[in-house]
Formats: sequence, C-alpha cells, structure tokens
Amino acid sequence: MCGIFAVVNDKTNYAAQTVLAGLKKLEYRGYDSWGIVIKPLKSDTLRVKKHAGKIGQAKTSLPQGTIALGHTRWATHGGVTDENAHPHLDCQKQLAVIHNGIVENYLEFKEELIKKGHKFSSETDTEVIAHLIEEKIKNKPTTHAVFETFKALSGSNAIAVLDTKLEAIIACRNGSPIVVGIDKKNHQYFLGSDVPAFFKYTNCVYFLNDGESVVINKHGIKLFDLKTEKEKRLITQTLDWKLEDAEKGGFSHFLLKEIHEQKETIAKTAGLNGKEIKKVVKMIKDGNKIVLIGCGTASYCALAGKYFFSRAGVESQVYQANEFLPFSHFCDKQTVLIAISQSGETADTLIAAQTAKKNGAKVVAVVNARGSTLERLVDVVLPVDTGPEIAVVSTKAFTAQLATLYLLTMSVANKNSPGQKKINQLSKVLTQWLDVQLINQLINIVKSLIDEEHVYVIGKNLNYPAASEFALKIKETSYLHAEAFAAGELKHGVITLIQKNTPCFVLASNDETKNEVLSSAAELKARGGRIIGVAPFTSPEFDELIKTPDLGDLTIFGNIIVGQLLGYYLGIGRGADPDKPRNLAKSVTVK
Ligand code: F6R
Repeated sequence: MCGIFAVVNDKTNYAAQTVLAGLKKLEYRGYDSWGIVIKPLKSDTLRVKKHAGKIGQAKTSLPQGTIALGHTRWATHGGVTDENAHPHLDCQKQLAVIHNGIVENYLEFKEELIKKGHKFSSETDTEVIAHLIEEKIKNKPTTHAVFETFKALSGSNAIAVLDTKLEAIIACRNGSPIVVGIDKKNHQYFLGSDVPAFFKYTNCVYFLNDGESVVINKHGIKLFDLKTEKEKRLITQTLDWKLEDAEKGGFSHFLLKEIHEQKETIAKTAGLNGKEIKKVVKMIKDGNKIVLIGCGTASYCALAGKYFFSRAGVESQVYQANEFLPFSHFCDKQTVLIAISQSGETADTLIAAQTAKKNGAKVVAVVNARGSTLERLVDVVLPVDTGPEIAVVSTKAFTAQLATLYLLTMSVANKNSPGQKKINQLSKVLTQWLDVQLINQLINIVKSLIDEEHVYVIGKNLNYPAASEFALKIKETSYLHAEAFAAGELKHGVITLIQKNTPCFVLASNDETKNEVLSSAAELKARGGRIIGVAPFTSPEFDELIKTPDLGDLTIFGNIIVGQLLGYYLGIGRGADPDKPRNLAKSVTVK
C-alpha cells in the first residue's frame, strides 16, 4: 500500500531519474498517482513533479541533483488527483513528506494547524505531517522535530522526509515497511518500501523495525531508536536474491513469470524449514487447538490447510483474518495460530496475530517477504522463500505456502519423508505438464470466454478452496465475474444462475468425492451449462477437459495453476494490466 523510494548521493547526479526508475519497480504497491521531489544541485528550492495516474512510461525533466524522494500512491484519504499525490510540502517549502499508512488522528491536528495559519493544498492525512514538522522545527532541530511528529501520529505509518537545509532524508517506521540499501562501493544510499526498487544497486540492506528511524545524508546513514531518540548500531544483512528475481526475465509480465517460477519454487520450499516444522509439530501436539488465518488468497490457503490437517487426523479452525476478532477470545495458551501472508504486512492479519498472542496463543507465520512485521511478532517463522512476488496478485507465494502447510500436516501425521517426496514429485510433474500445448489449449478457451459476463467454478473437499482461489484469480486479473461454490451447494440455490452455455469450471481430483462432483457437473449440464472439467480424468459430463496431473491430494496444485493462467490470459484479452489490476495494492497495510 503505497511505495516509497529515495536515493542519497546519486552517483549519476540525476537523482530524480533514479527515483523514477525505482518507483516503476514499486508501482505494484499503488498506482493511483506518483510524485518525486528533488533538491537541485544549484538551488535550495525543492522541485516537485506529481501526477494522478500510473507511472507507466513517465519521464521527468526535474533538474540534476544527488538527493531525491518519490512515492506511488494507493489512495486512502483524498481522491485520485494531482494535488493529493505525494510529496506534500510545508508552507515554507523547506521540507517534503511522503507517507505509507493512515494517520488516524490527522483531523485533530489539521484543525489546530489551520488555526495557527497553515495553508493546506490537499485533502490528504499526509499533508498534516509536513505542517506539524514545520511547527516543531521552530523550537528544535529538524531530526528531532520529525521524530516527535512521527510519535504523535496514530495508526500504522512509515514516512520519509526530505529536508532541503540538512540535505538529508529522515525516515521513520511504525507498522509500514521501510528498508534501506547501502551501496558501499559507490557511496550511495537507498530507501524503499521494498527491496526490488534498489536491488540492482545493492544487496546490502537493513530492514527497519517498528520504532526506528534512519537519517541519511551525504556522509552516511544513522539509525535511531524513536523512543529514546538515541543513535543505535545498524547491522546490515546481505540478501542472496538474484538480480533476475526482481526483473521480468523475458516474460511479458511479472505475473506470467511468477506462474512459471512455480516449477521451481514449490520444490525449493520443500527443502526449507525442517527444524522449524518440528518445533511447530511439537507445539501442536502440546496444545489442543489449531487456528489458521489469512486474507484473500492466503485465506484460501488457510482453508486448504484445514482439509490437509483433517486428512492428518487433526481438527483445526479457519478464519479470514478480518473476521477473526469476534472469536479471538477462544484463543489461549493451548492454541497454535498459523498466520499465512505473502507480505507479512497485511494489517488485518497482523491484528489477528497480535490479539491471539496477547491471549497466550503460540503464533506461527507462513510468509514469503522477509523482514516483515509479522515475522517479528511470531514465535516461529516458516519462510517460503519464493523470492520477490511483484505481480499484485499472489501465485507462487500461495503454492509455496500450500506446500508448506501440506508438509506440516504430513509431519503431524509422522509422514515427513513421504510428504517431501510427494512435493518433489509434484514439482517435476508440473514442469513437464506446463508446456506449450497446455498454454495453447488455455488460450483457445480464453478466446471463447472473453465476452462472457459470468463464469462459475465448483469443487468439493480440497477442490473447494482450490475453486475459490481459481475464481479469485480470474476476477482480480481479468475483471470477469467468476464465482466459486462448493459443489454440494448448487442444489441449495445457486443453480438458478445457470442458463444455456453458462461457462462452468468443474475442479476435481481422483479422490473419494469424484463421483459426487461429477453428479454436480451433470446437474449443471442438465441446465444447459458449458462444462469445462479441470481434472486428471475424462468424463462424459465434461464438454471440454483441461487435463491436470493426477497427484492425489496434490492434484489441486495443477487445478489452481489452470486458474492462474486463465486469469492471466483473460486479463490480457480483456485489456486489463495483469501485473497491476485496478483498485488493488500488493500489501494491504490498512484495516
Ligand atoms: C490475491 C491477493 C490478495 C492477498 C491478500 C493477503 O491474489 O494477492 O488476496 O492474498 O491481500 O495478502 P498477504 O498474503 O500479503 O497477507
């Protein structure tokens, strides 16, 4: 939710252009508007360029300079206009502020500031930050004025401030991510919401913790504890990502690249977390309740986890993290709460995990992005390490999380090595199956669906969460209304939606529910539905079949990947941007 990027000591002297390029890599965090501020080489007057709309092919003619700050916005307070785009300046135009988060108490500040004569030029909560700092600067050094202002803000926030006099960037974090990159060789410093923005310059990073601030100027970088306002030691880490991880690598979109990467990422995940999984198994055996939570795609992963646990002989509960609070009081010391999140920054998931923890539960995170807030607050982290997931919709993180939950449940049932073997076999089989022939078949089906208004997806047992994820991928990537139902639910009402030629995807596996699902397919067919089977077997009930690998409980992986690919090609065919669907942002850091 909103992307922040800054450079200090830009070695090209075109800091604004460097920031523009970095922002393009962060656009998945919000694309309502973008903006850049620079302190020009030969002037103390800040220069700003900001516009509503996607950064896309934008260019900037901002003057030369070595220090600049930029932002891509996912609008919360104030419409999508040039004025509401970040950065926001104080009245004296001495400092510029960009922000990721929501200042929950901004209205009280705004009223006071207006009374004191401050002039506002936007409707945003962010602009109060610039004016608050301006007030405080009257009595104290800028750095401390920024610290004090930031501490007065309520909500989850990250800010970065460019001060023209100090020629410094001051950034603070509480709940929204900030990471710094240090390019020692060229003596350049970067600041971003996420690593891909600066990864081509350096892999030496420091992820700020909540309650920390950094001050970066041409002499270097200093880390501060916001509570004490004292400097502390900054210990960097070196990321072992490859540069290709943050690039499209020959694919037309990150989404397509990430879908194909699943051939490797699922198996890679299987080789991680051996020790941690043992710890979680012990926690589960020592406790008496398992709760799985997540939002969106991660919630479907949680739901699939519930079926996996059941197959391992263990009962568990699932909640969408955003609906967990009414039930959180049932969590206690005997509870193991498993929070699933790609970003580890989803506000609803964090709140649910924090609440469970307060009630004494042990909390486990299944996350992809590293250095996240979720990772820091839990007892055990099961990282899935698929590398940066840049397309807004989740694909490779989801299947790696699903594989991790599968392995966890197999370990609970003392079947760790068979579980590992099955995941490795899955990976090999997917690699062979995901070929040109399959893609051509899917493209032909997509052509026949481009002008549809509705498609329906049914599944039973593990194929029910799979159907839900399948439908979500189609909806978010192509804006075609796709709705998933549990196959057994059709006859209780939803079958009224089926008319002649209504496209119906039927997800199935060779399991104990196969015949029941085929009966549901027959019911759809009898009402005129066009039945597209997504399964490892043929059936007279299917008008067409997208054949997926027959892998027992793991058949759902192929079934889901079909949904990801259909979503992608439908998105292209219907004129959507598959990497950046409208109205969405990659990490939803607001409630
Ligand atoms: C869908 C999607 C979202 C996320 C959800 C949770 O493709 O990406 O539904 O799954 O916003 O995000 P994380 O996993 O970062 O907590």
